[in-house]
Amino acid sequence: MAEIRLDKFLANRSSYSRNDVKLILKKGAVKVDGITEYNSSRKINPDLQEVSCYDKKILSGSHVYILINKPVGYICATEDKIHKTVLELVPDKLKIKGLFPAGRLDIDSTGLVLLTDDGELAHKMLAPKSHVPKYYLVKLKNNLQESDIKKLAEGVILSDGTACLSAQAQALQDNYVLICLHEGKYHQVKRMFASLENHVELLHRIAIGGLILPENLALGEHLEILHKDVEIMLKSERFQVIYEQIMKRFSSYWINKRF
Ligand code: URA
Repeated sequence: MAEIRLDKFLANRSSYSRNDVKLILKKGAVKVDGITEYNSSRKINPDLQEVSCYDKKILSGSHVYILINKPVGYICATEDKIHKTVLELVPDKLKIKGLFPAGRLDIDSTGLVLLTDDGELAHKMLAPKSHVPKYYLVKLKNNLQESDIKKLAEGVILSDGTACLSAQAQALQDNYVLICLHEGKYHQVKRMFASLENHVELLHRIAIGGLILPENLALGEHLEILHKDVEIMLKSERFQVIYEQIMKRFSSYWINKRF
């Protein structure tokens, strides 16, 4: 990254405005390479110098990637007059301009959502033709039958006539199911099970591509990750591999207590 004015860098990488940044600098809250800096017009090279604000490092990478474990009651939007948004789960210091949820979960769904300011990456992840697999742990009203697994693999037809791509599913215990979709239509998982005359009671996104929600990330918590971690989200792992990893990491205790 080329040299950039300190106030511009801070305003770009935080929720502070340029004016806020000037005040914070005056207060002596900003350090460059560990030394307090008061001069807002000072030029810095974010790739070579470490900038901190109130002793928290300001990330210099060109984009930010944050995983969240979305709880019920939050919507995947940047602002809303009625509902809480997933951005409210991110601390102010990470709330940089242009941060948005790359993909959606319903207000009553929980689990893995990526927040980023990297539009190109989000496009790669969400474009219908990229078919990035998304894994959901679902609690159903009724048992999943072998015949349902077959229908899902063949591609179910939704009530409005929409044809779905093949989806892999595996029944777990107590009406829980792991299902993997390669597309993301509106309310798709709920509508797919409705077409099988079943009903989704709980829906939790557990993985995207090869990236499984970290087991120690509780509902409502966030985790900053690196670009190379996000790349794993774009990889298509075999269903069986992800299924086994999920089963190894998350005991049935976890599924029952945390999801
Ligand atoms: N499918 C749904 O029905 N809801 C979600 O939140 C995600 C996938």
